[in-house]
Amino acid sequence: MQNLSLNHSQSLVATSILACDFSQLGAEIQRVTTAGSDWIHCDVMDGHFVNNISFGSAFVQAASCHTSLPLDIHLMIDHPDHYLDRFLPLSHSITSHVEAPHPVSHTLARVREAGRLAGLALNPETPLEQISPYIGKFDILLIMTVHPGFGGQAFIPKVLEKIRQAVQLRSQEGLSFHIEVDGGITPETAAVCRSAGANVFVAGTAIFKANDSSVAIREIRGEQ
Ligand code: DX5
Ligand code: ZN
Repeated sequence: MQNLSLNHSQSLVATSILACDFSQLGAEIQRVTTAGSDWIHCDVMDGHFVNNISFGSAFVQAASCHTSLPLDIHLMIDHPDHYLDRFLPLSHSITSHVEAPHPVSHTLARVREAGRLAGLALNPETPLEQISPYIGKFDILLIMTVHPGFGGQAFIPKVLEKIRQAVQLRSQEGLSFHIEVDGGITPETAAVCRSAGANVFVAGTAIFKANDSSVAIREIRGEQ
């Protein structure tokens, strides 16, 4: 398994397939792969941790047949550690929520031991301090810019301060984790998040519903 670079100055776009036409899954994934996505973001929801149910490992397995891009799996589920065996073989990165009931350090360690990037996610209302016990144990800090559970929501600007705090923390600790933002990301909101210090941008609606997905991806990445 290739080790994804942890060059957190690199701007990456993780296209969320939650916003795609599920009846055309293969074609949709191929479309956004060709359009220039860096990662494919897979939003797994269990109806407990969030009040929505999306898809599971069988769906992610099907998705993986249509792209060779890294799969960035976002587990919005209780007890993510119970499901790692099913998701690890499919993934390049697996992110679990600090708010979810699970042994956080153990989950992060198992993902890293499998040669994947270990991610830790924070909901908008969760203060950055909540990840203090896990400093150095994750490769991706996923800062939610909407309340998890649904695509197509409005960006929450108050989260920008948490991004700045995360950049400061990373520098103080001499670490090099990605700062990923997720929810309501458009070229405009991506630009303010990039200025605050984020470098991985999850977008579903802004890419799948764009007139030209490749233009949207380039604009979100900050290229034009
Ligand atoms: C929300 C998911 C996000 C969402 C992003 O719980 O984690 O990844 O799919 O969708 P948009 O880009 O439509 O806000
Ligand atoms: Zn997500």
